[in-house]
Amino acid sequence: MPAPYFDPKTGLLLDRVFASRRIFDLEQGSVFRKSWLLIAPTDWLDEPGAFVTTSMGRDPVLAWRASDGRTRVFINRCVGGSSRLAEDERGSMEVLTCPCHGWAYAAQAGATELSPIAVPRVEAFSGFIFACMDEEAPPLADWMGDFGWCWEVISRRYAGGLAVCGGASLRARLACNWKLAAEAHSGDVYSDLTLSKATREVLDLGAALAERRGLQIAAGRGAIAVTVGGGRSPEDPREDMTPVLATLFPNISYDGRGSALHVWHPRGVAETEVQTYCLAGRDDAEVHSLGARRRCQQLFGPAGLMTQDQDAVWSAISAGARTSRGHPLNLAMGLGRERRSNLPGRQSDLASEMNQRAFYEWWQEQLSTPSVPPLGDRMTVDRPSRPAPN
Ligand code: FES
Repeated sequence: MPAPYFDPKTGLLLDRVFASRRIFDLEQGSVFRKSWLLIAPTDWLDEPGAFVTTSMGRDPVLAWRASDGRTRVFINRCVGGSSRLAEDERGSMEVLTCPCHGWAYAAQAGATELSPIAVPRVEAFSGFIFACMDEEAPPLADWMGDFGWCWEVISRRYAGGLAVCGGASLRARLACNWKLAAEAHSGDVYSDLTLSKATREVLDLGAALAERRGLQIAAGRGAIAVTVGGGRSPEDPREDMTPVLATLFPNISYDGRGSALHVWHPRGVAETEVQTYCLAGRDDAEVHSLGARRRCQQLFGPAGLMTQDQDAVWSAISAGARTSRGHPLNLAMGLGRERRSNLPGRQSDLASEMNQRAFYEWWQEQLSTPSVPPLGDRMTVDRPSRPAPN
């Protein structure tokens, strides 16, 4: 293989990318700290003082709305030590106090002596707050590039635009490397015939995705798989598309089978926490949102049928990679059948591995770019003066 880990000409990928501690560490600065990442639904931050905790790569972060109406994103850590300022997924506080020595923080600079370390780039997009740790990164829409067109395929399926139903995300731990989940959601429709067959039949999800008419599109910083047919407006091809799987690189994935948006958080080389938001249309009636939430929970909750199906396979691949001596995995399905048309990016048959190859091409390219250091490492922190002992 000419390329270090992935060869786009043959579609071969070395399985040690799922087991190497060195690659995992490199990804933090070259992939996660350089990318725009999903932080929280905007609706969860509509009141001053509202906060949401999550993480960017391995860094814990806190999105916090200040009294000036701005939502800022901070490292969720006291500058005096490593204590987290907030533990709950959601809450509301004007001041957060570190439990260790009682230093107090506010979301608005100047409101208290201290502010937490701020993530430099924050934007609202399509019902969600996104943030990026790279000060030099282009604005989110430019960063996504042509994938913005594909994101629109997803958002226009929801009446009034995307909204999250339920007051909390669903969370589950998977014993696998994060890339396996992000890659599969780029466009692995054919496992719907095998791995997810029983789940599909039990929950009456209809024909397997791979048996439907559709295509894959790899465009900008993402990839989507859509079924085609039954649309109303021939002027815009997106009206004729139904999104089934998509990943905005690196770790934000859509799954149309459960109306879910997943964020794959890397917790270790072979440990991933998935945070799942259940999507509904902003204009949908409550009864519809409840149905969507129930389906999402059945499929993607910690004991969800799809969660269990996928974890069984992805964890086995991760475990195999730990003892392998550099086994090449074959992602060559549909190689040579890619095409270009009036749609953005490249297209392929629906049952193909073009999108998975696009994911690894992008990932490998990222690894060869200069990495962004952790935010705390490039900031000078003014500590409050401590009272002199008597
Ligand atoms: S570690 Fe936070 S106040 Fe000491």
